[in-house]
Amino acid sequence: MCGIIGYTGDRDTEKVLIEGLKKLEYRGYDSAGIALSGEEEISIYKNEGKVQLLEDRVKEANVAPSFAGIGHTRWATHGKPSQLNSHPHRGKKVVIVHNGIIENYQELKGELAQKGIRPISDTDTEIAALLLDQLYEGDPHAAIFAAIKRLEGSYALGILFTDRPHTIYAVRKDSPLIIGKGQGENFIASDIPAILEYTHDYFLLEEGEMAEITKDNINFYDEKKRPLEKEMLTADWDEQSAMKGGFPHFMVKEINEQPQVVRATLGQYARGGNLFPNQESVFDIKGSIYIVACGSAYHAGLSGKQIIEKMARIPVQVEIASEFRYNNPILRKEDLVVIISQSGETADSLAALRLAKAQGVPTLGIVNVRGSTIAREAATVFYTAAGPEISVATTKAYLCQVALLNLMALKMAEKYISPEELQEKLQQLFSLPTLIKEVLKKESQIKAIAAKFKDAEHLFFIGRGQDYALSCESSLKLKEISYVHSEAYAAGELKHGTISLIEPGTPVVAVMTDRSRIAKTAGNIKEVHARGAIVLCLTHPDVDCSDFADELITLPECSDFIAPIVGAIATQLFAYHIAVARGNDVDKPRNLAKSVTVE
Ligand code: G6P
Repeated sequence: MCGIIGYTGDRDTEKVLIEGLKKLEYRGYDSAGIALSGEEEISIYKNEGKVQLLEDRVKEANVAPSFAGIGHTRWATHGKPSQLNSHPHRGKKVVIVHNGIIENYQELKGELAQKGIRPISDTDTEIAALLLDQLYEGDPHAAIFAAIKRLEGSYALGILFTDRPHTIYAVRKDSPLIIGKGQGENFIASDIPAILEYTHDYFLLEEGEMAEITKDNINFYDEKKRPLEKEMLTADWDEQSAMKGGFPHFMVKEINEQPQVVRATLGQYARGGNLFPNQESVFDIKGSIYIVACGSAYHAGLSGKQIIEKMARIPVQVEIASEFRYNNPILRKEDLVVIISQSGETADSLAALRLAKAQGVPTLGIVNVRGSTIAREAATVFYTAAGPEISVATTKAYLCQVALLNLMALKMAEKYISPEELQEKLQQLFSLPTLIKEVLKKESQIKAIAAKFKDAEHLFFIGRGQDYALSCESSLKLKEISYVHSEAYAAGELKHGTISLIEPGTPVVAVMTDRSRIAKTAGNIKEVHARGAIVLCLTHPDVDCSDFADELITLPECSDFIAPIVGAIATQLFAYHIAVARGNDVDKPRNLAKSVTVE
């Protein structure tokens, strides 16, 4: 989703802004722009398309020195991608960049029209700029607080006033914004990677607070305009981890980081055989577990359900957050609502969390980004230690989520299984880094198979139980980066309609990691094979698929308990190589955003 960067200091403002925007590209965008605040005026440069285009235009323009600036990558919501709709937007005395959605912009637009003020773009953001402009009579604090009283919806705003060229102002509601603190220079940003090159110190701007930033000072104010003292945080992500490190794409770099990040994630909550120390109350679940999430995090939940129900016999319902929040769900105080989110900012997941909290139900966040809204608002948080994930298509964060859910299942099953079984399963989990490396060694084989499937128009992933969960994630991974239409199907359900789509040459990926169901899945594969499907099997080395597999990827020796985690590496590489072979922008797939902060 949209990204914001702001800078004030002695460096070339335009360079810092453009570098920052490049680091925010991964969030997904369709246009980019900057505003530079100089002695005389605020100049704006913006265009539809890539940040690179903006950079070229700014270089050609030979811009005048500036004291402060704000920049933005836009992911269109109101109005198509175009130069006019790109941010920054301006009034006579004010320029803003905005992340989020102003829900009452039509009403505000009507009010402005009555005063003869009309926007030139289709955006909700320009309405916010014009409103602020109306309210500004020389006192930025008064104008900003008056404006946010009128704004409904979500926003992170970076603001410049023409008569205050040295100062950036920032406010936010339901959309993240951090304030970076440097030496003689300061920043605003939607996300930590944008400022890591310059500083690791930052403040989290909270709802309803305003920040006033000059190169030497950062002042915070609450809603009553009273000065605030805030705690400074230090990011433990190094800059290197937010760079490609020799890999052609972030996605494949992140796939290769999985041995380390899974170990780090598990290590936090399993020390010396002691699982989740001091967190006993979270696992005292008398009712059901609701796992609520979006996208891949939802698929991690599907995988978690399989393992938790199997091992701990606690009922688990997995819900799509955008549905759950409007379903008037029947929650009870003895239930546990688990929100899974890499970013910790996904609007629908956050709304689901707030809904559960409002009903007095215990909540748990499984989150990757420390300090994110879901991490702060959930009653308890377990962190995945995936580090910064830049590729829009998640790999390492998903894998850490599933690994953590497996560890949680073990904790929940602790009282039912023998200490020996517990130890054995723990060892299996901790063998994941080695097993993942084994699959990574198969990359050239997987790439060769991907080359054979790259021109497919449709592709099916089928599996049962935990393999259906992995099929869902594998299918999503493929379609989001390769743009090949793909569907995941519960293998036994295929014959109730969808099998009519199978014709000679239709590619089907059969996921078979759960030994207890392999015979059943094999039956379903034979049904599609008999109708001409080309079948790629992903399974254990001891499974005989010679009757129906046209292509085969074997997992390293591993138990069913962890096999879906090991198998995910293979389908990630499969999707990656198909997307590369098709010449796609793997890290920044069209129409997608990394952090979806609007509903
Ligand atoms: C976006 C991303 C997906 C992600 C989903 C949920 O759609 O493109 O990869 O799974 O959001 O994001 P979250 O940050 O809540 O895990």
